[in-house]
Amino acid sequence: MVSIRPFNEGDNQRMLEIERLCPQGDEKCAMGVEKKDIIARYKLYDNWDVLVSEVDGKIAGWTGLTVKATPDQKEKYAYITEVMVDPAFRRAGIATKLVKEAEKKAREMEANYAYCYIYDPNKASQSLFEKMGYSKVKGIKFPGISTYKKLEVPPEYSIKYVNTKKIDDVIGLINEYNSGFMHFMPFTDQTFEAHLRLIPSYGPENFRVVMDKNNKIAACAGLWDSSKLAQLYYAREPAAMKIMKSIYGILKYITKVPKLSAEGEHLKLLYIVDYAFDKAQPDAMLSLLKYLNNLSIHMKQDFLMAVTDPDDDLLTLMKKLQPQTETWNVFAKSFEGNLPAFNPFYVDIRDIIP
Ligand SMILES: CC(C)(COP(=O)(O)OP(=O)(O)OC[C@H]1O[C@@H](n2cnc3c(N)ncnc32)[C@H](O)[C@@H]1OP(=O)(O)O)[C@@H](O)C(=O)NCCC(=O)NCCS
Repeated sequence: MVSIRPFNEGDNQRMLEIERLCPQGDEKCAMGVEKKDIIARYKLYDNWDVLVSEVDGKIAGWTGLTVKATPDQKEKYAYITEVMVDPAFRRAGIATKLVKEAEKKAREMEANYAYCYIYDPNKASQSLFEKMGYSKVKGIKFPGISTYKKLEVPPEYSIKYVNTKKIDDVIGLINEYNSGFMHFMPFTDQTFEAHLRLIPSYGPENFRVVMDKNNKIAACAGLWDSSKLAQLYYAREPAAMKIMKSIYGILKYITKVPKLSAEGEHLKLLYIVDYAFDKAQPDAMLSLLKYLNNLSIHMKQDFLMAVTDPDDDLLTLMKKLQPQTETWNVFAKSFEGNLPAFNPFYVDIRDIIP
């Protein structure tokens, strides 16, 4: 008998076991996630629900959600964080039941629509959500720069830690950069400070600004190590990576080559978050990217990753540094009326912990 009930703390161990069995992707490419606390990511939201499915008293899977609101509170919408089913219980309608229950909760909390992210190679999950009436509204890009070679940072810009007394200028730049992006909630002094402190392993000590020759902030970005919440690894390695490995295997004897993680090995990566720049000074942001590349090497990390709308100007700049780019698709379903246009789309960094 299949039943659905709320999560309780005693479920953590069994859910972690299931998560290990659930890489997201297909036979050719799949991303695995390893955590210590299955609900750590949920604690970053104002409200959340995790629904656990049991088959004859044994946990078979779960889903989770949070409901967010626009700044004026006029519209509420749900983020379906994940749906995981133990391989032993698949193709029996468990995920379908879980998502339906999550949608019911979302509607009870007055959400008008729901969205989720699905890793591009994860065809099973895409077909699950399509069958449930969701459609692909966006392909979010994850450009990752392999940080193995120091880059020269041009001297015209000075790069500093953020001066918390000048935080208003930073907030102004971030708000302007993201103005008009769907789901972006403009920051105030209080909300920005709270945001920096809320996200584990982030904080003002990981935030940098670039000053131009007029001593004006021309670019800014935070650096976030998300590994405290979740570690990512390729459970099945993409074919392109295997080819690169064989090429680099020879090249490494004559030059520096990017580190390519072995299957199952944790990816050591830092996220570039809360970035913004003066569009008239793209070189300021490029300088910051180069500086962060060097910092990532110093911190013994292998990748510098951003998460962007495909039309975000940061993506254009990152392409100059030859990133490897992954795509996660946004799927959404309206509960009432038409879906809004997800264009351009702002990614809430709390959502990117898979
Ligand atoms: C995706 C997943 C949650 C599906 O769970 P499930 O309980 O087997 O799904 P359901 O039985 O409810 O399937 C409903 C429909 O989804 C689609 N679907 C599910 N698994 C599929 C697969 N492997 N291939 C193609 N379509 C699939 C089918 O249309 C299916 O209907 P059908 O069985 O009548 O053909 C499960 O495979 C899983 O946990 N995968 C790993 C973790 C993951 O990727 N989670 C999603 C990330 S948020």
